[in-house]
Amino acid sequence: MNTNWMKKEVSHLFDQYDDYLEERLGYTPLIENMKESLGQDISVLDYGCGGGKVSRRLVAKGIRKVTGVDISQTMVDKASSHIDRGNSSYHQIRSGVLDFSDGTFDAAISCYVLINVTEKSMLLNIAKEIYRTLKNNGIFYILDTNPDSSGIKFSSFINGEQGKQYSDGESKPVYLNMPGGSVFKILDTCWHKETYYAILNEAGFKNIELFEHCDNESDKDIGDAQNHPPFVMFKAIKC
Ligand SMILES: C[S@@+](CC[C@H](N)C(=O)[O-])C[C@H]1O[C@@H](n2cnc3c(N)ncnc32)[C@H](O)[C@@H]1O
Repeated sequence: MNTNWMKKEVSHLFDQYDDYLEERLGYTPLIENMKESLGQDISVLDYGCGGGKVSRRLVAKGIRKVTGVDISQTMVDKASSHIDRGNSSYHQIRSGVLDFSDGTFDAAISCYVLINVTEKSMLLNIAKEIYRTLKNNGIFYILDTNPDSSGIKFSSFINGEQGKQYSDGESKPVYLNMPGGSVFKILDTCWHKETYYAILNEAGFKNIELFEHCDNESDKDIGDAQNHPPFVMFKAIKC
């Protein structure tokens, strides 16, 4: 069974995790790409917003309006309780079903969420709902851990066991290094890159692109992220 994000303890631990690497090689390139493509006077859906870490960054970088949704009320409560949330709001959803009209959002993001979904049919439902609620020419960004990085020692996490090839849809442990030296183990689902393309394509998205960022310039120790991209970022357009 994958990680239970409804649990307060899980929500608390995830909040404590230092997401420097996600920030540097995930959220920052995503937000820069979004602003270059659409500007900042936009309304963005953060699907699987968790405690609002990404939503708050979007707001801090000048995005006009952010709407976060998550299946976990615990996570929604955490996101809603932050004082620096600016023009963002948070709502609980039932998996895959969005309570928004067609064509509501200019862009949507889903960061480290699809690896928590265990069924391909559910991935497709989510992609279709996001497609429906985006405006024409709206952009959907997905960020996830890289399915091709099993066992690589990044500074803050190890994604899967070294040397193991995970099949599409297989359960995979991820070990997050926590402040103080403890390790927080979560259980994800490995989705191959082909599956992301297939799901996005079937939901109706076009111009699907994949970005994988490494880093040779960080002042901090980032482990093997100098040579291996820790994350995948997909960008897809509703046209
Ligand atoms: C690893 S956290 C990521 C949170 C946030 N996106 C971030 O980058 O900090 C994964 C989140 O996805 C949510 N989630 C898992 N499955 C979901 C689903 N089917 N629909 C919506 N949210 C889901 C969980 O409740 C959890 O808050």
